[in-house]
Amino acid sequence: MVSIRDIGKHEGEQVELRGWIHTKREKGKIIFIVMRDGSGFMQVVLEQERLKPDQWEQAKEASLESSIVVKGVAKSEPRAPGGYEIHADHFEAFHITKDWPLGRKEHGIEFLEENRHLWIRSRKQSAILRIRHTIENAMIDFLNENGFYRFDTPIITTAAAEGTTTLFEVDYHGDKAYLSQSGQLYAEAGALALGKVYTFGPTFRAEKSKTRRHLLEFWMIEPEAAWFEYEDNLQLQEQFVSYIVKRVLEENEDDLAILERPLEPLMKVEPPFPRITYTEAVDLLNKNGFDITWGDDLGAPEETFLSNQYEKPVFLTHFPAKIKAFYMQPDPENPEVVLAADLLAPEGYGEIIGGSQRIHDYDLLLQKIREFGLNEEYYQWYLDLRRYGSVPHSGFGIGLERTVAWICKLEHIRETIPFPRMLHKLTP
Ligand code: 4AD
Ligand code: MG
Repeated sequence: MVSIRDIGKHEGEQVELRGWIHTKREKGKIIFIVMRDGSGFMQVVLEQERLKPDQWEQAKEASLESSIVVKGVAKSEPRAPGGYEIHADHFEAFHITKDWPLGRKEHGIEFLEENRHLWIRSRKQSAILRIRHTIENAMIDFLNENGFYRFDTPIITTAAAEGTTTLFEVDYHGDKAYLSQSGQLYAEAGALALGKVYTFGPTFRAEKSKTRRHLLEFWMIEPEAAWFEYEDNLQLQEQFVSYIVKRVLEENEDDLAILERPLEPLMKVEPPFPRITYTEAVDLLNKNGFDITWGDDLGAPEETFLSNQYEKPVFLTHFPAKIKAFYMQPDPENPEVVLAADLLAPEGYGEIIGGSQRIHDYDLLLQKIREFGLNEEYYQWYLDLRRYGSVPHSGFGIGLERTVAWICKLEHIRETIPFPRMLHKLTP
């Protein structure tokens, strides 16, 4: 059995393909099929005179999404999608699908969401999921190649990393626990043990609003490094993001074409990335019709405006301490702001990364835990990292689905993950 994506290596050979009927067109004694096998699409020509009568009957009966086995010689055919086709000398339908629910051209989004388990077979959805695969692997490869160790952190926790308003509560045999919002606090322990680490896992936020960029369950990669300061952290992010984009351009040409994703904006993604401070951003926004007071959190419309000002991803830096997480290191030159940066993706996408230098001073961290109203008891182990061999350290978290949405240029985050979890959306 040969995968469609490898068909070029088998030109002129007899091959067997297994997959599903993606489209079908009948013309008297010839049937044209585009079959898919998950790795690609391939035109198959079925001629009555080349097939046994029972095979020809099956071919006529088999409709969209029937599972099939085809044998024949792979030939180059510049007019066929993918550049090759097969004139079959053998056809078998393993299972004949009747009334494929997604057969019609247009469906409403609600219907597609209810049928997500089938929708992922479509040309566009499968292209997105293949790009997601490349992005995940590129992230891991980059960090592995740069001396980071993968460090898996718990999903059931007691410590809130990113605010207490989006916690999913879990009953832990009578104790109260939460699904992890971020592996960062544990990754900090890892950085002091292994130097440079990253977590990669699902994270959970009980978001209470429905937006095009929030999921309740999403995947995050969080690198964390000891002896890493604010500037080191930003430089790592520039290289990391540029590497990911380059890998997708190299590995997913066909998928990007299926999505009709313009390539020029992606080709511009290389270090260095522009930077703008929060304070500068507030001025710029107010000059352009927004009404922001210093100290307000910036939302999606503000981020979209800012990211549209640049052709590359842009770092938004030095936020007011009170709108960011408790663990962020204050700027020594102005302790009202923190040594943190969000990376906003271009083309209006907005935040894909949040990161910062972490507080390494024990007293200051304790004071912040209190100021933010967190339960000290749960953070004793975290404070230990400042009791025993504390060092400056920094890290960031990149949302996988936000990155996929940007690189694929999608309107909504729901298409970036096989089975999205959104407000009031738990099935399939
Ligand atoms: O900015 P956030 O909240 O930062 C953290 O979690 C830090 N602990 C990261 C770190 O420094 N190690 O989240 C990081 C990223 C965001 O930039 C965004 O891409 C993604 O996670 N994200 C979401 N993606 C989808 N749905 C949501 N509800 C998300 N919330 C955050
Ligand atoms: Mg953030």
